[in-house]
Amino acid sequence: MSEPIGGREPYDLVITGGRVVNAAGSRSGTVLVRDGRITEILDPGAPVPPHQRAIDASDQLVIPGGVDPHCHVGQVLGEFSMLDNHAEASIAALWGGTTTIIDFAIPEPGQSPLQAVHEKRKSAQDTRTDLALHGGVVAWDGTTHDQLLALADLGVLTVKMFTTYRDGVMAGFDTIEKVMRVMADVGGVAIIHAEENHLVEQAQSREAASGRGDSRHHGLTRPESAEAAAVSRTLELAAKTGSAVYFVHQTTPEVVDLVRAANAKGVRAFSETCPHYITLNESVYESATPELFVCCPPLRSKVAMTGLRDRALQGHIHTLGSDHCCYSREQKAKYRQDVRSMPNGLPGVEHRLSVSFDTLVVRGGMSLENFVAMFSTNPAILNGLRTKGWLGAGADADIVVLDPKKRLTVNAGNHHMKTDYSPYEGIEFTGAATTVISGGRVVIDERGFHDPGPVGRHLFAKAQLDGVPLLAAPHVGGTQTVLNAIDRLEQMA
Ligand code: URP
Ligand code: ZN
Ligand code: ZN
Repeated sequence: MSEPIGGREPYDLVITGGRVVNAAGSRSGTVLVRDGRITEILDPGAPVPPHQRAIDASDQLVIPGGVDPHCHVGQVLGEFSMLDNHAEASIAALWGGTTTIIDFAIPEPGQSPLQAVHEKRKSAQDTRTDLALHGGVVAWDGTTHDQLLALADLGVLTVKMFTTYRDGVMAGFDTIEKVMRVMADVGGVAIIHAEENHLVEQAQSREAASGRGDSRHHGLTRPESAEAAAVSRTLELAAKTGSAVYFVHQTTPEVVDLVRAANAKGVRAFSETCPHYITLNESVYESATPELFVCCPPLRSKVAMTGLRDRALQGHIHTLGSDHCCYSREQKAKYRQDVRSMPNGLPGVEHRLSVSFDTLVVRGGMSLENFVAMFSTNPAILNGLRTKGWLGAGADADIVVLDPKKRLTVNAGNHHMKTDYSPYEGIEFTGAATTVISGGRVVIDERGFHDPGPVGRHLFAKAQLDGVPLLAAPHVGGTQTVLNAIDRLEQMA
């Protein structure tokens, strides 16, 4: 440990020798950390001040901790409960370089949106990462308007609605429109799972009648046209109401293009995709265990997967969400013969970084800056989390040292998610975290995981700061919006 000079307390941590990558640009430098915050980034060659601990990031990248905008933790959906709790999900997230999780508080039958948020916050007391929540609305009633205002006061400005899963969490388009009107007023965002339910049900009945209602034929039961129809209809509502809208898990180039076309007309609309939609395709449904890959929307054709990945490489997709859902092999297998009853979704919070870095940067040639934008910066900005998603004085010390050459072979036997399988089993990815710092604490290093205990903070979205719109600022194309927002944050820090 270096000696303090002139009585100044040493820094808690310094990270030397790495390339510091922000969405807005990268440079070499030394990152200084004190009291859970970054205080400064020094130019290379500047004397390194006294410090408690130094991390050598030579030949590695130093990027902002991941912000996963789409994570289901311990959610109960119908007959099935996801197997992890917040301690488990957040530890798996840290292993994979994600230091902030955004989970969902979807009302269960009989529960109000506010109750769902209160319950979720209670159940998330032991989170190791910081945590924010999306609220949810299933059905509009006489209390919903005021509840949404109360949620906004509680820092929940993003509200999820599903256009499918009838008899479950589906919200009608009339409800979506009403929620959007409130979001337009409070500066929030409607978060949409877009699949036209009647088209899904039609396809499900047709395929079941022909003996193809099982998981091998999952793709046929939820066609691309159902996704496109719901995206188009929702974009019309966003245009009509002035609300910002964020589409989770987009799976085809067509729906990304619909969002872009709406942007060109002034609609504030945003696209998320997931690592599995740009890396895996429908051929996995031919495997001996197709049920392990059942998610909604389904994995698409190779052509769609490649087109989607190209849209990401062109900068047309804003964020990468894991859509993490922790079910076991046994849960997935129970109704493998009938996709209408299956638990949908794939585990993924731990591998969002490696899978997407390999696919987009290593193989696709994406710039490091654009990758950081999708992995961390844009999810932070779009969710009103001003101290997340960037490295600079005033930002939270959520930092990943990423070795762009480190190889990681996925193996459910030693991953940290609470499930006994991975959709990427046996696949080798290039690019992995070597050190992870969360709130200034080193939680992953060459010696393994150092449990910080239940220190994760509950985050509150802010729509405005000093009169400047922070959340879902008017879209001006590609990642430029968030880069402008980051500039403002750095100036205000
Ligand atoms: O298949 C999925 N994605 N399941 C989780 C719930 C959802 O639709 O996001
Ligand atoms: Zn969904
Ligand atoms: Zn989801």
